[in-house]
Amino acid sequence: MTRIICIVNRKGGSGKTTTTFNLAGALAEQRHRVLVIDLDPQGSFSRSLSINGDGPKTSSVLMTPSDEFAKLVQPTPVENLFLIPADPDLKVIELRYGELAGHHNRLRSCLTKFLPDGFDFVLIDCPPSLSILTSNALVAAQEVIIPVDGSTYGTEALKDTLESIKLVQEEVNPDLRICGILLGNINRRTIYDQTIEETYRSRFTDTMFDTVIPTSIKADEAAMLGKPITNYASSSDLAQCYRHLAEEVASRNKKRWSIRKKSSGLGKKLSSIVARR
Ligand SMILES: Nc1ncnc2c1ncn2[C@@H]1O[C@H](COP(=O)(O)OP(=O)(O)OP(=O)(O)O)[C@@H](O)[C@H]1O
Ligand SMILES: [Mg+2]
Repeated sequence: MTRIICIVNRKGGSGKTTTTFNLAGALAEQRHRVLVIDLDPQGSFSRSLSINGDGPKTSSVLMTPSDEFAKLVQPTPVENLFLIPADPDLKVIELRYGELAGHHNRLRSCLTKFLPDGFDFVLIDCPPSLSILTSNALVAAQEVIIPVDGSTYGTEALKDTLESIKLVQEEVNPDLRICGILLGNINRRTIYDQTIEETYRSRFTDTMFDTVIPTSIKADEAAMLGKPITNYASSSDLAQCYRHLAEEVASRNKKRWSIRKKSSGLGKKLSSIVARR
């Protein structure tokens, strides 16, 4: 059965894209078949990994779910790793449909009906807002990973993110659960970052992944080259951390989900929350 996990945090630069692609790379290395869906209109990492610029556009298929969805799936140079790349018109979806109800279940529809067989994981990279694209991901997913960094403004964004997850659980997707909160871009040698880690662990206990992702210039280098760290610097500490994370994610699968059809209307409540962000 496919596990669908979205990577969400309202805060920009909190490590969503880095987590998505490096976790995907590590899972793929561990022989899992992984599909990354890039829902961020910025989509820089996915553009460098992507091979085929032709074919249908993610934004069009998302708005009108059809069997074209399968054609969006592209192989990448990394074995077992496949990609649905972002396209800039995803931004148009945010602008045009952001305040209208009834568009929150499009991605779910695509995945329920048209996802090709054989994927162990679908990882969805979300934009830095609790927008229509993010709500599509939360409605489609069974699990959420929330990457956090040690910055001062992180806690407020995390609060908003958790509130949105709760709302989606209450309104449309009661099976949605938090796979884990991932602390990243952290230098454990500083007292400041040690305190940040202690604070998160005392507050979120088991919800925190044991793995912490250290600050490393290699994260930027790998992103620039469009390679997961496990391919770019296979023997680095950073690659090892993502391997541990992949093992944790794979083992946090105590409960199994099937994709069930939900009521199509998300209702005004979610729309109004989305519109407020
Ligand atoms: N462990 C790390 N060490 C050093 N730099 C890192 C690390 N993790 C992420 N970064 C850098 O932090 C920046 C932001 O990371 P990333 O793009 O993953 O965040 P994001 O949440 O996806 O951002 P956005 O909200 O804009 O989509 C990037 O330049 C990335 O290379
Ligand atoms: Mg990103």
